[in-house]
Amino acid sequence: MKQLLVLGGGGHARVVLDAARSSGRIVAGVFDDRPGRTGQTIDGFAIVGDYAGFLGKLHTGIEAFVAVGANDVRLRLASEAPAQWATLVHASAYVAPSAVLGVGTVVMAGAVVQPGAVVGDHVVVNTCSSVDHDCVVADGVHIAPGARLCGGVHVGDGALVGAGSVVLPNIRVGAWAVVGAGAMVRDDIPPAETWVGMPAKRRQVST
Ligand SMILES: CC(C)(COP(=O)(O)OP(=O)(O)OC[C@H]1O[C@@H](n2cnc3c(N)ncnc32)[C@H](O)[C@@H]1OP(=O)(O)O)[C@@H](O)C(=O)NCCC(=O)NCCS
Repeated sequence: MKQLLVLGGGGHARVVLDAARSSGRIVAGVFDDRPGRTGQTIDGFAIVGDYAGFLGKLHTGIEAFVAVGANDVRLRLASEAPAQWATLVHASAYVAPSAVLGVGTVVMAGAVVQPGAVVGDHVVVNTCSSVDHDCVVADGVHIAPGARLCGGVHVGDGALVGAGSVVLPNIRVGAWAVVGAGAMVRDDIPPAETWVGMPAKRRQVST
């Protein structure tokens, strides 16, 4: 069984660790940079050090994973550390044989990735979400719990597709855009905009 180093010890890390455990990984250490965390445990896994400790372990060649929920932080940490990143799929998830998953990506419990989908690096396909046929999901995206991407959807780098939302077929969600929880997206979303509601509209920012 392959060993794994996990960077991050918060709530998102608990779910990543569950996916790692269910898929037979041996967690060789959890690292958390927050003061006072070293020496504590998270769901039975020991927090053995901070970020410097994590970097110090990378020479061992053990695969690693950034278990941080914030897309920008996860991508930054991944770009800064010279690690060999793992891909994790929870034992209860389904990933079609013709789907492609990048490195540093996790498919959580109950999630589904259908044929022809291409999912980039350091993506979170969260609990019971679905990525349907021929979707293209770029690096650092988070498909939140229960969100559904219909066939042929494109999601740009770093976007957040909020919990329980639905994105209709062939829609494009721009880089760093946010789809609000529960939204129904029927129009393309430009980069970096936040859209909410049913049907989803751009959220007006009051000044
Ligand atoms: C859309 C979102 C990003 C807005 O967050 P925010 O900027 O902090 O917004 P606020 O909570 O200040 O709300 C601003 C307005 O948007 C509305 N709003 C917020 N989220 C909304 C949503 N999902 N759907 C509809 N309206 C929403 C609020 O009611 C409020 O309206 P008002 O100005 O008329 O009172 C956030 O609410 C959201 O849905 N995030 C997704 C979270 C998620 O799924 N995370 C996954 C974790 S695993």
